[in-house]
Amino acid sequence: MCGIVGINGSTDVCFDLLAGLKRLEYRGYDSAGIATLCNKAFFRKRAEGKLINLERKVKERPLPGTIGIGHTRWATHGEPTANNAHPHQGKHVALVHNGIIENHEALRESLNQVVFQSETDSEVIVHLLDAYLDRGYDSIAAIRATLQQLRGSYALAILFKNAPDTLVGVCSGSPLVIGYGKEGRLFLASDIFAFANYCESVTYLEDGDWAELENSAVTIYSHKNACPVVRSRTPVADVAHQTTKGAYRHFMLKEIMEQPQVLKDTLAKYTSLCSFTAQADLWKNVSGLSIVACGTSFYAGCVARYWFEKIARLMVAVDIASEYRYRHPALSSDSCALFISQSGETADTLAAARFTKKEGIYCAGLVNVAESSLARGVDQILQTYAGLEIGVASTKTFTAQLAVLASFVVEVASLREVISMEEQASLRKDLHMLPHLIEETLEMQESLQKLAPRFERVKAVLYLGRGALYPVALEGALKLKEISYIHAEGYAAGELKHGPIALVDNKIPVIVLAPHDALFEKILSNVQEVLARKGQVIFFTDSDGASALGTLAERIRVYVLPKAPSFLAPIVYTIPLQLLAYYVATFKGTDVDQPRNLAKSVTVE
Ligand code: G6P
Repeated sequence: MCGIVGINGSTDVCFDLLAGLKRLEYRGYDSAGIATLCNKAFFRKRAEGKLINLERKVKERPLPGTIGIGHTRWATHGEPTANNAHPHQGKHVALVHNGIIENHEALRESLNQVVFQSETDSEVIVHLLDAYLDRGYDSIAAIRATLQQLRGSYALAILFKNAPDTLVGVCSGSPLVIGYGKEGRLFLASDIFAFANYCESVTYLEDGDWAELENSAVTIYSHKNACPVVRSRTPVADVAHQTTKGAYRHFMLKEIMEQPQVLKDTLAKYTSLCSFTAQADLWKNVSGLSIVACGTSFYAGCVARYWFEKIARLMVAVDIASEYRYRHPALSSDSCALFISQSGETADTLAAARFTKKEGIYCAGLVNVAESSLARGVDQILQTYAGLEIGVASTKTFTAQLAVLASFVVEVASLREVISMEEQASLRKDLHMLPHLIEETLEMQESLQKLAPRFERVKAVLYLGRGALYPVALEGALKLKEISYIHAEGYAAGELKHGPIALVDNKIPVIVLAPHDALFEKILSNVQEVLARKGQVIFFTDSDGASALGTLAERIRVYVLPKAPSFLAPIVYTIPLQLLAYYVATFKGTDVDQPRNLAKSVTVE
């Protein structure tokens, strides 16, 4: 959340800063700004709203300078106005910040001589640095003294007037990466995606590091001992092809359509027993599993709980990361924890993982970004191979998470010897049908596009599911809310009568997920309850389910999905809900890839 860029080069940087911000726009898009340093003077442009507004301003009058910083903002402290946009600038420094300074109020009070220009927490850092520089500290000493006063999480990129060749990056609780480009050009970014095309290799700063990028050379210090430290450099994978929409109107639709290939690529990594872990004994004897995540990743964890308990006979608790560590969970020393985060940078999930590690519990992380902070902090990495996801609403990374979790469940069940060799082989065979099943399910695209206009005036939608389809109902409702701004609730179908049925009238669409499985008849009773109150039922089922409906089919709108093994139904039934949300949103004309108020990666607690 909030994207940071910085460049130190030998040619003007202002348009490259904008290009870097463009690629980070998914991290926040309510305002943006850049600043450069040239002949010991700062040049700065900031604009409210999408990056395009800043681009217009910069094109009118480009900024001079071969060193600069930029920021795309997701507002926390202070409204998204140009004035609150970064970079913030003082007498001696200009800086951009990602994260939250928790003690900013106290620091503001301590700086009572200063006239603040913005309502942000970030501005205090500018004035602290300025105050130390005024007192004669050099830039290194000023940074050290300032960092000691800050509490919270932050990544910073800083320019100093008195050190015109130096770009400084600070990483504490929010990610920051250094990129090494051609001809000694150096980059800083909160996500390497910003500059991957310009960089040959990168260094991920560790928590507590800060770095000086000066004249093609990088020196990294650690907060703890203030001594230079050595951090490894890794080559950059080619991500260029992942950054365009191709023939698609939106990244979200492209990413939905990529799912068969993503699942093929992901499952290919987990074909055999022990694909996951050398820690066979640990997973064999584990007494319970805590799954912790946020947003869509949390719903993936909720689906996995059904699988772990039913197939691997393992007790699972699933928590929202922002609740987990504050509820003082009673963790047993022979249990394990699994943190799910596509970005691997979600602040609440990272904090939960740190807390659990401190408790001495073995931690695994399921991530899509192998170099992410979460991946670097856990004992074991499970990875999805979904490629870059740019649409803010997660689609392909969710189904990839489910595919990995399903494979992992089969492995854990085998290690725990709770399923036979035949059962194991049959589940694995099912899993490998998945890409084909998803391809077939995507053929519903046209019929769901035709359904979308019916949601034009709808104020609320209910999604119902049972068993492992219940979290899919939650995820379906979240997708619709996120991108179409229609209020939607997911419910366990059996819970309908305990409250939400009061919402049902002849205007509310009730989406029912009903594969023909052991719970099919139960869910039909819930459909009858809705129909008795004149609700509009949209019923997703398979061919057997459709045949079993009898005359009920005349009173509801039925959509038939390919017949899937019940183990895989949660993944298959996710697809029409993604497509429906997408087409409702495009019909309503919302900003599908960058819905209002959201950000792809939420790096504040
Ligand atoms: C944000 C995104 C959601 C995402 C959630 C968790 O809220 O808008 O789409 O599910 O963060 O993200 P993570 O990267 O931890 O999976």
